[in-house]
Amino acid sequence: MLRSTDNSAATPDGQAISQWSGEAREQAVQKMFTAIARYYDLNNSLLSLGLHHRWKKITAASVPVMEGGRALDLGAGTGDLALLLNPRLGPTGQVAALDLNMAMLRQGIQKIATRGLSSRITCLQGNAEHLNFHQDSFDAVTAGFCIRNVGNISQAFSEIRRVLKPGGRFVCLEFSQPVSRWLRRVYDWYSFHLLPTIGTLVARDGTDVYQYLPASIRAFPNQEGLVALLHKAGFQHVEYRNLTGGIVAIHIAIK
Ligand SMILES: C[S@@+](CC[C@H](N)C(=O)[O-])C[C@H]1O[C@@H](n2cnc3c(N)ncnc32)[C@H](O)[C@@H]1O
Repeated sequence: MLRSTDNSAATPDGQAISQWSGEAREQAVQKMFTAIARYYDLNNSLLSLGLHHRWKKITAASVPVMEGGRALDLGAGTGDLALLLNPRLGPTGQVAALDLNMAMLRQGIQKIATRGLSSRITCLQGNAEHLNFHQDSFDAVTAGFCIRNVGNISQAFSEIRRVLKPGGRFVCLEFSQPVSRWLRRVYDWYSFHLLPTIGTLVARDGTDVYQYLPASIRAFPNQEGLVALLHKAGFQHVEYRNLTGGIVAIHIAIK
């Protein structure tokens, strides 16, 4: 189903796609990830000035260390968060790394195999909106820069809540709203001008993904908006922490 707010759907660009929802958005977003998968890690490091490593480490550290724990990483992509979660789950722990996009997942499978961790981290293709797991399956669910791309966020949140064990936690790392006005201005200039130029050059990509990125960030709920959505999905205790002045935020929601 295609739902668009204006005629730009006829010639979609990254900005228009960020306003869509449903299947059409999902397909367009997936096409972009397929196009950039090989360059994703390099671009991530360049465009975040290496900060994404720190953001992901803090996200993984928000999952308590547990012996024999089971964790699910959604939108696992090239596998960074799944790899960081692994040592927190003890020698018998298991991580499921799930992504809708096979090209991104292939990069993750390779990275995980190179580190000899294929028996501990299982890569699966799947959709965060329809999780193929029993209820109360996981001690923790994480999502790094995934939820912004999902067609129906509320549906994904209720699925995440369903598969979490009672008391389990969902840790969501996402771009958010910088708290100070000056940082917002600098960040706007960076993300709408410099970032699309560098991203497109490195990935040699013609699918507008690096225009979609800042547009999707602006269209995504801010810190408090995400808290409200998580409460609406039935999570009882929700809190968040801003990183790098609120450029990204980590939300923690307990079932
Ligand atoms: C920006 S990448 C983040 C990858 C990785 N988590 C990281 O932080 O580097 C977003 C990932 O979410 C995946 N994704 C988007 N929508 C999804 C959905 N509905 N279900 C599962 N994965 C999805 C994309 O295919 C993509 O690999």
